[in-house]
Parts: sequence; structure tokens; C-alpha cells
Amino acid sequence: MRGLFISFEGGEGSGKTTIIDGLVKALTDAGYEVVRTREPGGVMIAEEIRNIILDCKNTAMCSETEALLYAASRMQHLHEKVIPALKANKIVICDRYLDSSLVYQGIARGLGIDAVLNANCFALNYLPDKTFFIDVKPEVGLARLGKRQDKMDRLDKECISFHQKVYDGYKEIANRYKERIVTVDGTMSKEAVLTDVKEKVFELLKK
Ligand code: TYD
Repeated sequence: MRGLFISFEGGEGSGKTTIIDGLVKALTDAGYEVVRTREPGGVMIAEEIRNIILDCKNTAMCSETEALLYAASRMQHLHEKVIPALKANKIVICDRYLDSSLVYQGIARGLGIDAVLNANCFALNYLPDKTFFIDVKPEVGLARLGKRQDKMDRLDKECISFHQKVYDGYKEIANRYKERIVTVDGTMSKEAVLTDVKEKVFELLKK
């Protein structure tokens, strides 16, 4: 496979979307072909799975089902969108990927990292070239969101201790995959975070 596969990770309100917007613009302006996408979702079947996962009425969903649905949505998205784009030498920028499952289902839900890696065995052949973890503490991220209750999905509604586990989980995963995951201080100004990320991505493109 050619192309470049980049994923962004972080807790709720970490500012991933804003950073991705800026990066996509900078790369496009520089003449690169960029495919911007997200998980769970990105293609129709995966978006339908997303709706099941995030639907607030699905309070009975067990953690194992949740992990398997994320893995299923991931494979569909990989096959329909990510792999073809990488084969066509494009840059794929994905808002969340496998590390979200390791952190949310493996650590925060307590299924264990190995169990979640197993559930994602098909995706392990397609790890991102680089992953940016936007580091923002949960209390800061959640306050930034200031979301109204009725706009929150099933995972947003989890209590602060769940989001704290997610945050600690990201630290653990970033430490486990030091080569691939770059931690960026997400409490800096938007411009400073974007500059930092852009520099690192353009550096990768030189290689
Ligand atoms: P989304 O609204 O896309 O969240 P955000 O804007 O914070 O990226 O909802 C995705 C939710 O799904 C988010 O709470 C993280 C969660 N998630 C997992 O738990 N496991 C996964 O593998 C993925 C991809 C997402």
C-alpha cells in the first residue's frame, strides 16, 4: 500500500475536528489528494452500525457487543474507503480509529486490550502510519463541549469517571505504541496545536 494513513485520537471535546479541518485544508492547498473520514462511520453500512452503537435507547448493549460493532464498522470502512484511497496514493485522515476501541472498550469498559485487539484482528494489518493523540483532560474537554443533554449520544452521557478512564487509557496506549502515537498538548491555542501537527505531517511526507 502507498499513500499515508493518519488518525486522530482524544477524549470528548479535545478539539480533533478543528485540527483535522485545518490540516485537511493545508494539505489540499499544498496539492495533496486527501480523504477525510471518521469512525464509527464513513460509509453507509458503517454509519448504520454507528447509529445502533450511539443510540441512547440501546442502554442494554453489553460491552462485548459494543466492541464487536465498532470492529465491524471499522472493517467495512477500511474495505470501502480507506484501503482504496491508500492504494490510489492518497492521504487518509481519520477521526478516531483502532486506538479508540483499545481505550474506550479495552480500558474504560474493562474488556482488556488483548481481547479488543483480538476482536479487531482483521484491522491489525492496517495500522495508521501516524496517530495524533490530542491531550486534553476530561474536565476541560467536557466543559468545552457544554453540550445540551438532548444533543448527547450514549457515550457522551457516561459519567466523568468513565471519561477519566478514557484519558488514562490514552496515556497508556500512547506509551505502548510510542513509535506510532504522537501526543500533542491540546490545551495550547488552536493555532499552536495546528502548527505543531502540520509540521509533523509535512515532515512525514518528505520521507
Ligand atoms: P463521535 O460523536 O464521533 O465522538 P467525537 O466527536 O468525540 O469523536 O462519537 C464517537 C463515540 O464513539 C465517541 O464517544 C468515542 C466512541 N468510540 C468508541 O468507544 N470506540 C471506537 O472504536 C470508536 C471509533 C469510537
